[in-house]
Amino acid sequence: MHDFRYVNGRLHCEGVSIASLAKQHGTPLYVYSSKTLADHFTKLSNALAPLDHLICFAMKSNSNLGVLRTLADLESGFDTVSGGEIQRAIAAGGNPKKCVFAGVGKTAEEIAFALRKGIYCFNVESEAELERINRIAGKLKKIAPIAIRVNPNVDAKTHKKITTGTYENKFGIAIEKIPALYARAAKLKHIRLRGLQMHIGSQLTQIKPFADAVRKIAPLAVKLKAKHGIEFISIGGGLGIMYEDALVSGKAEWWNSKEAKNILTPEKYAATLVPLLQPLGLKVLLEPGRFISGNAGILVTNVEYVKRTGKKYFAIVDAAMNDLLRPAFYESYHEIVPVKQSKARPVNTDVVGGICETGDTFCKNRPIPRVAEGDLVAILSAGAYGFVMASTYNTRPLPAEVLVKGKESALVRKRQKIKKIWEEEATAPWQK
Ligand code: LLP
Repeated sequence: MHDFRYVNGRLHCEGVSIASLAKQHGTPLYVYSSKTLADHFTKLSNALAPLDHLICFAMKSNSNLGVLRTLADLESGFDTVSGGEIQRAIAAGGNPKKCVFAGVGKTAEEIAFALRKGIYCFNVESEAELERINRIAGKLKKIAPIAIRVNPNVDAKTHKKITTGTYENKFGIAIEKIPALYARAAKLKHIRLRGLQMHIGSQLTQIKPFADAVRKIAPLAVKLKAKHGIEFISIGGGLGIMYEDALVSGKAEWWNSKEAKNILTPEKYAATLVPLLQPLGLKVLLEPGRFISGNAGILVTNVEYVKRTGKKYFAIVDAAMNDLLRPAFYESYHEIVPVKQSKARPVNTDVVGGICETGDTFCKNRPIPRVAEGDLVAILSAGAYGFVMASTYNTRPLPAEVLVKGKESALVRKRQKIKKIWEEEATAPWQK
């Protein structure tokens, strides 16, 4: 469920009016709902209650300190992909002992940092990385807990840019090679074999690829437990969310709705996976990002101009592809709704940003109630891979972020000051 809905015709996040937040903090503005974050986390955790499990929130999807703290307070662990993310998780009050460190390109500094902080596990992506971790752990007189990422060669049937679990991808190690690699790793003095990890892709809306992958690696996990005493299996992230019709009727419990029958709910996910995982007798780790944060955030933007050219009707807004890259990069769909509910006739509209690129388009020919200059619109389901992928392209400052809880709201990231954008730059000495 999510907590963005119309109250008396005005879009609200929980008990706070979006228009009032825009007035106070300006636009473009990301707004997150604490209650939605917590509900998603809890719903997933409850569905998996029969398993000894740990949810490690994939903080690459949203790493705002306020968001991370909301989840840390619920005892969430964190799936991190850089030394920076580990530092961020700790800064937000996260427990490094519940952090896993993934990624194909871990540098020596990052590995040393993670070892010093005593993270739960490194998710290892190559033999070379395994040897590097062993060497660094030796130097630091530490034992590095590791899991090797198995590539189960299962097609996740999602967008090609977010598919990771086939042999076409750079991720993990082919399932056939895993037993020999664990045998080699077991001989390394500063390595402890703690688990087995996989992740097949993102925004999966069907259970089948998950089930296929778990079925494929389960026998391997059992063997590795017997032979090397591994204690956990990680089934990665990837649970998809509803992007279309995410709000429209303001349904709170969307997973009880008609549309939900086509989406993967935590209950369906658990109903299939728990029986496959329970017999393994292993702790189960998960790395969901989008499922927790995606529908917990929106991007609020102001209509700067409306423009009609030939047959097209454009709404030019003050957010752009630098603020929310997903539509430009993946041609992804985000619901766009007026902040003040409108009875105006829907007009086929292109909602676009002001950047000089045709790709800077949030939607094309979408029937949206006619908007006018000065109207606020909300781009929904922007809580995952939204702000974290923002840039200062066109020397546009990073947007502000607000966290709402009930009737309270807090600015959890100030809008970047323009001068900060080039603060770390300089002219060359010969340019005087
Ligand atoms: N674990 C691993 C190893 C991953 O690579 C990812 C995402 C996750 C967990 C979390 O996946 P999630 O539960 O959020 O689907 N920027 C893209 C998504 C990239 C996903 C990368 N890996 C987008 O905006 O759709």
